Amino acid sequence: MDVEDIRKDFPLVDEYIYFDNACLTLKPYQVIDAVDEYYHKFPVCAGRSSHSLSNLLTRKIISARESVRSLLNAEDPSEIVFTKNTTESINLVARGMGFEKGDVVISTDKEHNSNLAPWLLLKGDKGIDYRQVPSLPDGTFDLEAFEEMMNKDVKMVSMVHTSNLDGVTLPSKEIGKIVHDHDAYFMLDAAQSVPHRPIDVNELNVDFLAFSVHKMLGPTGVGVLYGRRELMEELGPLVVGGGSVKDTSYEEVTLHSSPNKFEGGLQNYAGLCGVKAAIDYLLDIGLDEIEKHEIELNKRATEALKDRITILGPEDPGLRSGIFNFNLNELGCHETALLLEENKILTRGGMQCVHSWYNKRGLEGGTRVSFYLYNTVEEVDIMVDTMESLLG
Ligand code: ALA
Repeated sequence: MDVEDIRKDFPLVDEYIYFDNACLTLKPYQVIDAVDEYYHKFPVCAGRSSHSLSNLLTRKIISARESVRSLLNAEDPSEIVFTKNTTESINLVARGMGFEKGDVVISTDKEHNSNLAPWLLLKGDKGIDYRQVPSLPDGTFDLEAFEEMMNKDVKMVSMVHTSNLDGVTLPSKEIGKIVHDHDAYFMLDAAQSVPHRPIDVNELNVDFLAFSVHKMLGPTGVGVLYGRRELMEELGPLVVGGGSVKDTSYEEVTLHSSPNKFEGGLQNYAGLCGVKAAIDYLLDIGLDEIEKHEIELNKRATEALKDRITILGPEDPGLRSGIFNFNLNELGCHETALLLEENKILTRGGMQCVHSWYNKRGLEGGTRVSFYLYNTVEEVDIMVDTMESLLG
């Protein structure tokens, strides 16, 4: 993996040290060009009109969906629904599965608000019983505690695959087996895993998988929900309208089957046109190489700073993927982020949408550095030097 070569494809990498990749990644010219092509060559709607420009766009969307299917090793394109982000994908499942009073839903104690708020609202609206598995003290998953919590009333286990807070990844295969042995469904918030390592939905043992293409070099405002084919037939849509409807009378509506059923209204076509370019780019470099690179950078930062700062999550950087979230004890997390920015180092200070975890511990947040394929060892060294000067 030639990072210097990769950097030539990205605007802004020479102007900033961009370490906020868990939030949104930069986009390579290949993706920008694919979006631009939509506006220049076929800025129309897909799947409705039958003129030549619309047909051109429809083919682009089919190939975007196929590219996601193949990335995940899913069985069929009907299992891939485009949404606007991970949040919408999770909400679609939460609202579409017909949860009833007493249904148990289990998450971890480290969920992003996207995989917490929908369940808390369902607790109020429908009376579901929502529970969280407490993590072990170092932030890793407690499989035994989880297994003890499983019973016949559990309908859904919905968990963050790789935490955006500390980078810890769950043992999905083992969790999936326990979930399925109890005839429940298993969903992963994979916003921080699909962009960073090879993912196969069969190996993960999941029924649903939610992630965002804008966290993996793709255009902003494109997310994905993967769902096993038979479940997608049962699942109700979040939004209905043009494109999702097969027929209506004044009294009745007949919906299409998946994926159209879920994609009501005109879509983010420009964004969808960049999906394949983003995936091709990542596959060309190799997701396993990308993962290795991020862990190397994380190791370097950890080794240099671990004795002087508080790192959130396990000490071993190999367990934190590309996430390096910390507190400089003397300085607040926002102040630290602002001081780093004086040297053009862009991070995310605060609660990173995991308010519940920080609030429980009385913390203001952390300063999170998150790496990606275009980050360099030199950038890590500049950050280390800057932090050493802050620490005095
Ligand atoms: N989930 C995104 C983050 O952690 C927004 O920054």
